[in-house]
Amino acid sequence: MILVTGATGSIGRHLVRRLRERDVAFTALVRDEAKGAALGCPYVVGDFDDPDSIAAAMTGVDRLFLNAGGAVPAEGEQPMVRQQMTAIDAAVRAGVSRIVKISVWGATEDGLLAEGAHWTIEQHLKESGADRTVLRPSGFMQNFLTGAAVFTDDAGNIVGTYGDSRVSYIDCADIAACAEAALTGSHTGTFVLTGPQALTHTEIAAQLSTVAGREIRYIDVPPKRLVATIVALGAPTHFAEDVAALCANVADGTLSTTTTAVTDLTGHQAKTFADFLADNRETIRASWTR
Ligand SMILES: NC(=O)c1ccc[n+]([C@@H]2O[C@H](COP(=O)([O-])OP(=O)(O)OC[C@H]3O[C@@H](n4cnc5c(N)ncnc54)[C@H](OP(=O)(O)O)[C@@H]3O)[C@@H](O)[C@H]2O)c1
Repeated sequence: MILVTGATGSIGRHLVRRLRERDVAFTALVRDEAKGAALGCPYVVGDFDDPDSIAAAMTGVDRLFLNAGGAVPAEGEQPMVRQQMTAIDAAVRAGVSRIVKISVWGATEDGLLAEGAHWTIEQHLKESGADRTVLRPSGFMQNFLTGAAVFTDDAGNIVGTYGDSRVSYIDCADIAACAEAALTGSHTGTFVLTGPQALTHTEIAAQLSTVAGREIRYIDVPPKRLVATIVALGAPTHFAEDVAALCANVADGTLSTTTTAVTDLTGHQAKTFADFLADNRETIRASWTR
């Protein structure tokens, strides 16, 4: 029995669909009863912040898909570290033999925000003794689905500090396919997952424009202006500075190469940004059209 955490999220909902289609035995972990019912699959209610609920959810489970939210404006350690370590410990105690974890490309010791947090969790997973598959994705194409996960100006243009650097964004549907392959097959190890091409944000804005039916531009700003934008949205300065520093790394090309891991794990080509736009045309049109 597989336990799927983060089942209502951008990767999890694709994984739930895939496991249902293949008739694989699994249970979704959800925080909210109504969201569980809406998934249309067996589910259990639990919260990473309630260790007893996580321990109970592991009953009868032999494989775990471990995924939850990303970095938040917390003081000190990111909550995901405690949450995911708790889940790993509960899984090992329950006899779970394989854990498939979503991490991030660039996870590194002392890294900022999610990069450091995922590194710490990866080390804990390594020491747990469970068979493990670590999926380290590039940026998600789904960040552009509604515009809520990217910075925009009043005119609905994309604002960033990436310059002309390229990013090999990946579709979360492909991450879910890789997770399915790892959960149901014998792939273990660490895999960097990317899309099949790396695009500039000017190219991304141009492709979004064709779906939205209006011109969307990419506007490059200095890191200081991005910090001010994030602070104006209500985030603490230290968080805004860390986000801007991570964006500056991306501008240096840290996410610009591509890998063959999606094809290696699933046997199919990773989706292009154009495929992503075609698959999500109505949502994108409704969100980006003004
Ligand atoms: N966005 C990117 O470009 C990117 C790139 C690389 C890696 N990542 C990593 O990908 C992971 C997923 O990020 P995402 O933004 O796409 O999130 P997401 O998977 O879309 O949403 C988070 C999921 O976790 C669940 N969740 C959150 N807190 C929980 C808790 N306390 N207990 C139980 N379940 C909880 C949420 O449930 P509810 O429905 O109840 O909220 C939701 O299903 C993160 O670790 C992030 O660091 C993101």
